[in-house]
Amino acid sequence: MRIDIISVLPQMFMGLVDCSILKRAQDKSLVKIVVHNLRDYATNKHRNVDDYPFGGEAGMVMQIEPIDNAITALKQQRNYDEIIYTSPDGEVFNQKIANQMSAYENIIILCGHYKGIDYRVREHLITREISIGDYVLTGGELAAAVMADAIVRLIPGAIGDEQSALSDSFQDNLLAPPVYTRPAEYKGWKVPDILLSGHQAKIDEWKLHQAIERTERLRPDLLKSEE
Ligand code: ADE
Repeated sequence: MRIDIISVLPQMFMGLVDCSILKRAQDKSLVKIVVHNLRDYATNKHRNVDDYPFGGEAGMVMQIEPIDNAITALKQQRNYDEIIYTSPDGEVFNQKIANQMSAYENIIILCGHYKGIDYRVREHLITREISIGDYVLTGGELAAAVMADAIVRLIPGAIGDEQSALSDSFQDNLLAPPVYTRPAEYKGWKVPDILLSGHQAKIDEWKLHQAIERTERLRPDLLKSEE
């Protein structure tokens, strides 16, 4: 998989691209994450990528031309499954969308900024708009990083134990059951006996029961959703 990220703040992705699971996935050639500086596609000598809005509102708007230049240059090199724009008014990102996108070959994520982008970009160039939650960030970089992380860890081979991605919270609309490690007792706080019993069928039953109980208590909305 290849993820092209277009941003006016490419330095914000430095930690993301060279750390932890995302680094390992890239070292194993499971994914290539390429961050592009939108200013490199500006045509004016000051490399500006924003301008005042028509209609006289406050704030600056990202211009269509540098974005079109960047997307067109990428599309000339390969086909993209999706050209995503990060925006608080997009579809809210979730595990189902992460699963779907982890099977894609190539995606572009355009990070929004300022007051927004010229609406023609959204009408003519973008195929999907994604929000990471009902709050407003200063830019789409953190949203792109969240999406890239959630997507890449689902690519088979990206995390050591593939089973562990399958048993994540949300993967089947249930929160994950509690986990414990040694020591079995610490300051009198005990690990549930069942986990030490060696009885795998009973342990699995306990885990499922815990997952359902925690979901009912903490996130009952997940059980009501039809997806
Ligand atoms: N840009 C600003 N806020 C955002 C959000 N909540 N999700 C995605 N992109 C954003």
